[in-house]
Amino acid sequence: MRVLVVGGGGREHALVWKLAQSSAVREIFCAPGNAGIASLARCIPIEADENEKLLDFVRSQDIQLTVVGPEAPLMAGLTDLFRENGLCIFGPSQKGALLEGSKSWAKDFMVRHKIPTGDFKVFSSPNDALSYLQKASYPLVVKADGLAAGKGVIITRDFSEAALAVKRILEQKEFGSSAGEKIVVEEFLEGEEVSVFAVTDGTTYVVFPPAQDHKAAFEGDTGPNTGGMGAYSPPPALTPELEEEVNKKIFDAVISGFQAEGIDYRGVIYGGLILTSRGIKVLEFNARFGDPETQVILPRLKSDLFPILYGAAKGDLSSLAPPVWHPGAAVCVVMASEGYPGKYEKNKVIYGLEKTKEMENCFIFHAGTAFQNDRIVTSGGRVLNLTAWDFSLENAVKRAYDLTGKIEFEGMYYRKDIAYRALQRK
Ligand code: GLY
Repeated sequence: MRVLVVGGGGREHALVWKLAQSSAVREIFCAPGNAGIASLARCIPIEADENEKLLDFVRSQDIQLTVVGPEAPLMAGLTDLFRENGLCIFGPSQKGALLEGSKSWAKDFMVRHKIPTGDFKVFSSPNDALSYLQKASYPLVVKADGLAAGKGVIITRDFSEAALAVKRILEQKEFGSSAGEKIVVEEFLEGEEVSVFAVTDGTTYVVFPPAQDHKAAFEGDTGPNTGGMGAYSPPPALTPELEEEVNKKIFDAVISGFQAEGIDYRGVIYGGLILTSRGIKVLEFNARFGDPETQVILPRLKSDLFPILYGAAKGDLSSLAPPVWHPGAAVCVVMASEGYPGKYEKNKVIYGLEKTKEMENCFIFHAGTAFQNDRIVTSGGRVLNLTAWDFSLENAVKRAYDLTGKIEFEGMYYRKDIAYRALQRK
């Protein structure tokens, strides 16, 4: 089979790396890919949002499966376009992607299908929002409705902070004009967060192991929110009993909700959950694999990834053999460019990658990297995902941090406390 992976970050590198191990996969293409992906796939100069160009490429190259990594092409209707043209693609339809693409739509969907989530109100008028916020009790969370690259969530402690959040989102359109059409004001929930994943064909589903992301830029979950500064799997906070509950109250409910509403959803359901004293609640859904969670989940997959993605894309996982997972734990430390998630410089030469090649059960998944005169340089905020697997979480953490000692580029930074919550429990 010939496969195209759409995207060019650490998640897509992990997907390409795992698909490349499949005996069913003959050749992999990646659009646009990055310097690390280029060692496993043919990277093509088409951006993930160039739907028509992707369609032409897939037709001309006789590609049998396209796997969509990021959310933006899903929201832009890439899967609908491919399916209208008879092509096999892994990812939900544009309507299904609203689960991630519109927070207000997702909240209403959760209410319709009795999926546990925090109380909320939706506003499109700043005045209506302000009169509600004047009388509300705090803290409260104010969220931009649409896709905002992980940035449109603002925790507010009083009315003045909430009023500023309303101004930034609805009036100044800081997170984009479509993300700023509405806001969701939500109760502030306290507890440990975990990410859970199911791959569905629209009827049945396969559960992937859970993970915990570290969204804040700095140690101890301080500093601005990023796309994710590291992850580990499995998080002990999600006990097997809670995993059962997630299947019943969340995955079953989402899939039967989509069926009842006639929505074509063949792809990943990613639940961002919080474990509160009042039980599990959904903070948000995403319609694709997590980044950097995928970088710790796929190294734990012992069996083949291809039949899972292909079966889901075809709409039939019924004959899939249950996936086999490695025991132990995987840890990923994200190396970022100084200044990220704000402004940062690019084109810094990355040294030391060759020193990591022989390190057993260690994986360097590239994110923002590119070639420049035969050297690999930085080209994004999140640059590398240093990932390690081991039988114990402690050893996996140690191995991942051993990798950080091998790599160097000007202005690099990374969190020193990935997996701290799980280590503290021990
Ligand atoms: N890990 C956060 C995300 O993928 O959105």
